[in-house]
Amino acid sequence: TQGQRKRLLDAHRVAAEFFVAQLGSPEAKVGRDFLTERGFGREAAAQFGVGYAPQGWQALTEHLRRNGFTEAELRLSGLVSEGARGIYDRFRGRLVWPIREVTGDVIGFGARRLYDDDQGPKYLNTPETPLYKKAQVLYGLDLAKGAIRSDRTVVVVEGYTDVMACHLAGVTNAVATCGTAFGEEHVKVVRRLMGDTGGAQLKVGSTGSKVIFTFDGDEAGQNAALKAFSLDQQFLAQTFVAVDAQGQDPCEIRQHRGDDAVRALMEARIPLFEFVIRTTLASHDLNTAEGRVAALRASAPVVAGIRDRVLQPEYARRLAGWLGMDVQAVRDSVGQAA
Ligand code: GTP
Ligand code: MN
Ligand code: MN
Ligand code: MN
Ligand code: MN
Repeated sequence: TQGQRKRLLDAHRVAAEFFVAQLGSPEAKVGRDFLTERGFGREAAAQFGVGYAPQGWQALTEHLRRNGFTEAELRLSGLVSEGARGIYDRFRGRLVWPIREVTGDVIGFGARRLYDDDQGPKYLNTPETPLYKKAQVLYGLDLAKGAIRSDRTVVVVEGYTDVMACHLAGVTNAVATCGTAFGEEHVKVVRRLMGDTGGAQLKVGSTGSKVIFTFDGDEAGQNAALKAFSLDQQFLAQTFVAVDAQGQDPCEIRQHRGDDAVRALMEARIPLFEFVIRTTLASHDLNTAEGRVAALRASAPVVAGIRDRVLQPEYARRLAGWLGMDVQAVRDSVGQAA
């Protein structure tokens, strides 16, 4: 109900303020040091509302109770976990980022482990709740929406610290998924914001809207790119990938090489189709005839999977060039793979 929704939003606002206040506590020094080491000063922390969740099991729970929230409301909010002896704080001993709706309302949190003896995952997010649907959530959307609308471009990075680094470096259209792959629901959210309704408006090769994914150079990043390949084809034709040659993520790039290097990463983007084909080729030895044949066999299905009638023959030609092979041989393979 509307009343319940408002109560949950209130609880999140109170929780976000609590975490921010806790970031100033003696216990939170490890969290402040983490931010400093990553190149985020006080101002940056404040701009993004970064906070600290204390290690005690009842810190936030007690605070919310004192503020009049019932146990039922706390359970529904996802801010607490439940054990045999009742409810306790879900986020403990972690740096927390408030996850906001496009309107700016806090609907959940992403929280990073800070202590070596923490057995939990590196990142812990709010579970599915009436407010928080991870398939639709994009961290940073509230800050990025203006730039996304005006540039008709969205940059999708992997993590909270990457969103911060991008915005501080001037890439203000950056957002991140929260512990989940970028999926069809995210496509809808982004399209709506860019003013794309799908269909005829999205013309391949036009100066229309763009999506740029940045991934770590690691395997998880490459798998994420391959996963994105299964999204809506019209979307894919406007999709680019920017991977740093040194495999660093935007936060590391900014920290070690500065703001300009973050912006340069976005300029170095290549089409997603090209990225996926090149990633496939990279696992073969193109210096031998056998390697080239194997590479063709692996990459032909990728080209066959490109449904666009202009782009598919174009990528068949380019694949022939990358393989140093006859175009007709590549076309035949693609035809057989279809
Ligand atoms: P930092 O050291 O914090 O910069 O992490 P990283 O750059 O090594 O993070 P990584 O590239 O592994 O992950 C990027 C994003 O993936 C994070 O911001 C999270 O949203 C998500 N992620 C990473 N690890 C976990 C995890 O253990 N659980 C969940 N749910 N999400 C994770
Ligand atoms: Mn990674
Ligand atoms: Mn990182
Ligand atoms: Mn990373
Ligand atoms: Mn480093």
